[in-house]
Amino acid sequence: MKQKILILGAKGMLGGELVRIFECDENYEVIAWDKEDIDVTDHVRLKQKIDGLWPDIICNAIAYNAVDACEDDYIEQDRAIALNTTYPETLAKIAKSLQAVCVHYSTDYVFDGERPVYKDGALSPSCCGGSCRGCMYRGSEDTIENYVYVEDDLPKPLSRYGQTKYDGEQAVSKCAGRYYIIRLSKLFGMPAVSAAGKKSFFDVMLEKGQSCMESGESIRVVDGEVSKFTYAPDLALETKAIIEDGSESGVYHIVNDGACTWFDAVLELYALTGINVHIEPVTPETFQRPAPRPRCSVLGTTKRETLRHYKQALAEYLELSR
Ligand SMILES: NC(=O)c1ccc[n+]([C@@H]2O[C@H](COP(=O)([O-])OP(=O)(O)OC[C@H]3O[C@@H](n4cnc5c(N)ncnc54)[C@H](OP(=O)(O)O)[C@@H]3O)[C@@H](O)[C@H]2O)c1
Repeated sequence: MKQKILILGAKGMLGGELVRIFECDENYEVIAWDKEDIDVTDHVRLKQKIDGLWPDIICNAIAYNAVDACEDDYIEQDRAIALNTTYPETLAKIAKSLQAVCVHYSTDYVFDGERPVYKDGALSPSCCGGSCRGCMYRGSEDTIENYVYVEDDLPKPLSRYGQTKYDGEQAVSKCAGRYYIIRLSKLFGMPAVSAAGKKSFFDVMLEKGQSCMESGESIRVVDGEVSKFTYAPDLALETKAIIEDGSESGVYHIVNDGACTWFDAVLELYALTGINVHIEPVTPETFQRPAPRPRCSVLGTTKRETLRHYKQALAEYLELSR
């Protein structure tokens, strides 16, 4: 018998890939909802609609992702809490009542990026400390593996957005039956097709690089905030594998390999696409943004195999999106 899977946020960047991946498998019946189908902040309607469907799996790819907008603005904060905390709690309860698997996504921004790191029994030097080339580049003995956050590390969000996501994680783990909370960072893939859909960092930088090549301007890119990229189709496939493996309920870190700064990633992007512009590395403080970001939030996993390198995934994405 087919497994009925409900995907919420089906027109988003990740939701769209989840729909594509599950629809390719005849063992699943996919129900794809976005804003036109349901406003998930209407919890009564949400419960009625999901109860009527009785899915085996509920996959939540909806979130409030405007990291800066909700830092100082109370109305935006309420929206972030509604989508990232309150709604996932209700969804987890609905899933439990139907004995459905509950899949929920979260972020590296639940960590503060200041994890004290021990190497051979000694405390490693603290990370970048201002001249942010990324702490992994300090000293030849230091490798990024010493700075990785694994699933059991204790979150300590720096921003309001991070706090709402962490609160959502806790609500899901408390209220759901069988559940997977999957943390990712720096998502990229085909742009979302929803009304307010955003392009990923790579698509934005591609456009910027092309226009700067024509105008002869240089580009300034933050050489810090070290973390890993996540390619949406790889994440969707891994989500499917986690469900099908009958994995234990809990938190999972799923990212592509290759920790890097934003600057490193743009170098790679322009090398792959032949964009020839001057790129100036700058510190994170150069661009004043309301929400603080972790300096080094590299996700590592103790539960799954690491996904392929982001450079390989990026090359594939560029090929497919041309
Ligand atoms: N993007 C990243 O770099 C990143 C990084 C770390 C973690 N994550 C996590 O990954 C997951 C997927 O993110 P994403 O970037 O794929 O999200 P996304 O592209 O913004 O997609 C979210 C979808 O949910 C819809 N939606 C918003 N409010 C809704 C409502 N009230 N009722 C029904 N649908 C609603 C959106 O529609 P509209 O667009 O019309 O609002 C959109 O189609 C999230 O949990 C996110 O926190 C993302």
